[in-house]
Amino acid sequence: MLNKEKFYSKLGASFKPGVLSQVVLAADRMKREGRKIIGLTGGLYDEPSLPWKEVKEIFDQADETAWRQMLQYGGPTGTQELREELSLFMKEYNIETDPNTEIIVTTGSQEAIDLSTRVFLEKGNVLVVGDPTYLAALSAFKQVSPEICGVKVDEKGMNPEALEDSVKNILNKGKTLKLVYTVPSYQNPTTTMLTIERRKRILELAEQYDFLIIEDNPYGYISFKDAMPTPMAGLDKTGRVLYTSTFSKIVSPGMRIGWVTGNQEFISKMTEAKTRISICNDVISQYAASQLLKKGLVKNQIQKMTNIYRKKRDIMLEAMEVSFPQEAEWLEPQGGIFIWVKLPEKVNTTEMLSEAITQNVAYIPGSNFFTSEKHNYMRLNFSHPSTEDIIQGISLLGQLIKSKI
Ligand SMILES: Cc1ncc(COP(=O)(O)O)c(C=O)c1O
Repeated sequence: MLNKEKFYSKLGASFKPGVLSQVVLAADRMKREGRKIIGLTGGLYDEPSLPWKEVKEIFDQADETAWRQMLQYGGPTGTQELREELSLFMKEYNIETDPNTEIIVTTGSQEAIDLSTRVFLEKGNVLVVGDPTYLAALSAFKQVSPEICGVKVDEKGMNPEALEDSVKNILNKGKTLKLVYTVPSYQNPTTTMLTIERRKRILELAEQYDFLIIEDNPYGYISFKDAMPTPMAGLDKTGRVLYTSTFSKIVSPGMRIGWVTGNQEFISKMTEAKTRISICNDVISQYAASQLLKKGLVKNQIQKMTNIYRKKRDIMLEAMEVSFPQEAEWLEPQGGIFIWVKLPEKVNTTEMLSEAITQNVAYIPGSNFFTSEKHNYMRLNFSHPSTEDIIQGISLLGQLIKSKI
């Protein structure tokens, strides 16, 4: 018999299906059985709105030179054309960056998080994150077993006083603090927006206590009311912010176009790390991405998706008002694609998930986002399900939650 366990590295042995894989597997199983599950789970795109016609037209118009370039290896930092377009795109959000030396195109922001893990972190270092924070970033960081310190996220985002207390505590213990990972704009999962004052204060703390900031911004472009404040990268004077963003929530997650910008030397290190993983990004996808940006179609798509997601948010909020128990609490998201719900202490959303799945609805239990033990939260997605599924899914979930109170 093959003893598979003995072949794994420590890291390999630690790879176990996370909650998202479990939900996807359950949905696949139910599909095979002819049943349907309403997924209020991952941050998928509204499928009917994907810009497939625009992308198809770009490829229909590509000439031989373009196709030859697309089918060849690309450079490790991404195509010149895309880096230049991304630099112009970021300029509109007050981020100045040199496309030749300060940007690397990545396979989604997820790869950017992985690259920053490889370049900066190792066992024994301390990493600070929001508590709660994006679950797949936590999984990426955990690959190198850093000590993870969670700092409270309140309705205005990561709390700078709590951050300073944690930083002092870490340094007083003689530990090495290198990174603070944060999602300042419509944070995943809480959808809170870090105020401009807090952005500035956290940058001051970075300077005072000598740490770097990974600013992860997939959602800031989708604002239902006020525009997002200048990203921390646009306020940074000392090269301490590495800013990552992505096409996944605004154009297409399937294209796997993400990027990082920051200090030239850090970008160069990340580039070296990337060559060891994938040599370069998919050039076909980069071609489409640069053309979409050049033609102004990304801007149009952001506008279109903002309107669609605002409507879907309203439908989900209305359905929750009707179906959820009055003990449930949530913040009305001003952007992004999620609603973060707090339930009474006695509702364990981790345990409740399998029951929800048998009743044909799924969500992400909040415990996956926390560094501390908390079981009474859930994250709901409104970008992907149809409006009918939102209404039906929330009704099913409301009944289930009420049965637990
Ligand atoms: C906060 C955050 N960062 C990064 C990602 C990864 O996105 P991608 O790799 O598709 O760009 C996501 C995806 O949901 C996210 O929510």
